[in-house]
Amino acid sequence: MEENKMYYKGKPKYQLTPKTSDWMHELFNNQSVVKGLVKRYGSPINVHHLPSFNNNCELYNQVFESYGLKYRIFYARKANKSRGLVKQAFASGIGVDTASFRELEQSLALGGNSENLVLTAAIKTAPQIELAIKNGVPIILDNEDECVLTQAIANRIGLKAIVGFRISGFTVDQEKLYSRFGFDVDEVVNFIASYVGKNKSFNMLKVTGLHFHLDGYSTYQRSVSLVASIQIFSKLKEKGYAMSFIDIGGGILMNYLEDEKEWNTFNEQLKKSVLEDSNDITFNNNCLGFRLEDGQLRGKLNTYPFFNAINKESFIREVLDFVDDQSGLSVASLLVKNGVELRIEPGRSLLDQVGMTIAKVIHRKKDAKGQWLVGLEMNMSQMMSSSADFLLDPFMLYNSEVEKNENVDVFFTGAYCLERDVLLKRKITLPRLPAIGEYVAFVNTAGYMMHFFETEAHLFELSSNLMFTGSNEKLSFFQFIDDAKISLEQ
Ligand SMILES: Cc1ncc(COP(=O)(O)O)c(C=O)c1O
Repeated sequence: MEENKMYYKGKPKYQLTPKTSDWMHELFNNQSVVKGLVKRYGSPINVHHLPSFNNNCELYNQVFESYGLKYRIFYARKANKSRGLVKQAFASGIGVDTASFRELEQSLALGGNSENLVLTAAIKTAPQIELAIKNGVPIILDNEDECVLTQAIANRIGLKAIVGFRISGFTVDQEKLYSRFGFDVDEVVNFIASYVGKNKSFNMLKVTGLHFHLDGYSTYQRSVSLVASIQIFSKLKEKGYAMSFIDIGGGILMNYLEDEKEWNTFNEQLKKSVLEDSNDITFNNNCLGFRLEDGQLRGKLNTYPFFNAINKESFIREVLDFVDDQSGLSVASLLVKNGVELRIEPGRSLLDQVGMTIAKVIHRKKDAKGQWLVGLEMNMSQMMSSSADFLLDPFMLYNSEVEKNENVDVFFTGAYCLERDVLLKRKITLPRLPAIGEYVAFVNTAGYMMHFFETEAHLFELSSNLMFTGSNEKLSFFQFIDDAKISLEQ
């Protein structure tokens, strides 16, 4: 055990060591600041490090610059609701992808405009569309009803709507990719040519681009879909439409883990424990998506793929370097040749290393199975993944040095009245049992983990979001801005 340390990474039987950043360790080493923040804002706190967000913007900028592409980056703010990140996106020179009336309205108030915003909401109401048209914000249309509504509103207010068409149903390796979103790729050219433009039903829609967002994380599918989109783009351009961009949405992988070996071992050992019916890795034999049927292993790990050697900028490179058989050109060359501005809408990956959730220990107890349960002042909705578990080892912040390693196994539990409010499904081994009032930190939670499923059930207050400006000065309480206090007035 390391000497003189007051914080430790939890060590489950099969470790999944998260990638961390200096700012996180700086905070762990300054518990008086953590204590002051939790005292002031309540538990849990969500801390966001703005310079890390800026670094991610830079990475994407650099990769597109290196290909000499025209490009625009829009941060998909659905991944995290904080205002501070929207402001930071504009300050970092990128735009924001909005998916609701309030996201759009707030982003406009925070400095957004026709150049740095896009509206991609899955359900578009009349007020949303009107707000977008009045501000010249491009609207990504998904279906004919949206065209009708947008046309009617544009007509009423006497302003043209700038629109892109979302498309789906690309054929990849002879299979059509299903999506509930968008116009069918095989019909969109006909649809636009028949109905959109001067003297046609939708004469108030000005089409300037195409959009897709693929489910899953395949670079190959993105490359093939991009090639198909470029063909559609040039057909529409030939027909006289003022085409300028193709937006390939988000879903750019990020990497959460230090070590691929740990990830592989965890996967193998989980499968083995399910097969052998000897699961001592997770709470109540939760198999995280696997199951045993007639002695056979079925299902698959139902979580984000936490380790990814190809991620962020290398993911983009893989999409762009793909060579199209037909033309013999790379995707990047095709984009340049056809004068396409490439747009992306990353949510999760722009939040890599940006956030951390810190909660206070309230109680410790042994359940009837003799397992230690450590109750935290937070609930499952405040760190909830859309899948079976968030597979990163947490950090335990002790208020004094740990003198003897006692190797205590614990589960962290939350405040909802549900049996399943167990914050991490994996059993975590700590050097000693946490004391009341100590803190647990869950790192890299900014993308989808903090807000996407957060509720006010039991009338719990929503957690506070703090923007950490970071700097070379000594860490202090005053470097943390309460996101709720960020003004919406220009
Ligand atoms: C249209 C669109 N754009 C962007 C995103 C952001 O994706 P991610 O956070 O995986 O980068 C999503 C996510 O659902 C989306 O639906």
